[in-house]
Amino acid sequence: MTKKLLFLFDTDPVPSVFDTVVGYDGGADHIIGYGGVDTKNVGALVDGCIYTRGPKEKQFTAIFVGGGSMVAGEAVFKAVKKRFFSNFRVSAMLDSNGSNTTAAAGVALLAKAGALKGKKAVVLAGTGPVGMRAAAMLNIEGAEVAITSRDKARAEEAAKAIQERFGFTPTAIGAADNVARAAAVKGAQIVFAAGAIGVPLLDEKDWQDNPTIEMLADCNAQPPLGLGGVEATDKARERHGKIVIGALGLGGLKLKLHRECVGKLFESADQVFDCENIYAQAKVLA
Ligand SMILES: NC(=O)c1ccc[n+]([C@@H]2O[C@H](COP(=O)([O-])OP(=O)(O)OC[C@H]3O[C@@H](n4cnc5c(N)ncnc54)[C@H](OP(=O)(O)O)[C@@H]3O)[C@@H](O)[C@H]2O)c1
Repeated sequence: MTKKLLFLFDTDPVPSVFDTVVGYDGGADHIIGYGGVDTKNVGALVDGCIYTRGPKEKQFTAIFVGGGSMVAGEAVFKAVKKRFFSNFRVSAMLDSNGSNTTAAAGVALLAKAGALKGKKAVVLAGTGPVGMRAAAMLNIEGAEVAITSRDKARAEEAAKAIQERFGFTPTAIGAADNVARAAAVKGAQIVFAAGAIGVPLLDEKDWQDNPTIEMLADCNAQPPLGLGGVEATDKARERHGKIVIGALGLGGLKLKLHRECVGKLFESADQVFDCENIYAQAKVLA
């Protein structure tokens, strides 16, 4: 039987252990991780994937693009797809730092819990891979989206990258600390915390009595959590009259989705998994 090979092209120097484990759990027989992948060196790696197996076996080779930068991941993913021609192609998935699958799980659970259309949504620390994709998915749901960064210029840079990929520009907010982020969520209905691991972004007192906030989600599973007063295991639980989702509450769906997408990569040689269809899949599974 032809082995299912997953080539992990990571834009960081060292390929992700997380993506390797989930790749195996998703059905790959063997995972080959490359670190430091960029638009210049990816071409030869893609050639090795597309020229080595016949038409019937090509579906058992697949590419997964990961790493800590959404912009670098998008550029590599674009270069991968550009290298394909005719039936010289294999299935490919982009999920830099779990961006698509994590954001999709969080936004799909929010959408399941309540309407997002026309709501004001603030993605706290929305400049990382997860936050940038959460902004895009909230926009898909019809929310009016803002992203914060400790540095306004970084928020603007991320907003520009989102505009280039998705054709909409989230409002860029500079919010250096918890006090500034508390001001940023005033008047919003949805708060999506996408800060780096172990970084608190908002205190409980700053959302519990906020009259407009309806739902909050936090992606950071490592204490201190991103949102004070939200337990990691909360899954559409009511706290202070608001629906809250913690990082482990959304993590189960994230892992299920990630595994399922990897499994689908091997069903044919022409699958492309990125923001829109990963989000659509999350809504089916949520
Ligand atoms: N629950 C799950 O299943 C799951 C799966 C994957 C990832 N995650 C979590 O999702 C979160 C987001 O992931 P990511 O890869 O997108 O994050 P990231 O790129 O590491 O960080 C996101 C943003 O956090 C901000 N930040 C960094 N240090 C900060 C600090 N000391 N104070 C305030 N803000 C700070 C930065 O924004 P600025 O510099 O612009 O302020 C950064 O762009 C992480 O907590 C990650 O662990 C969860």
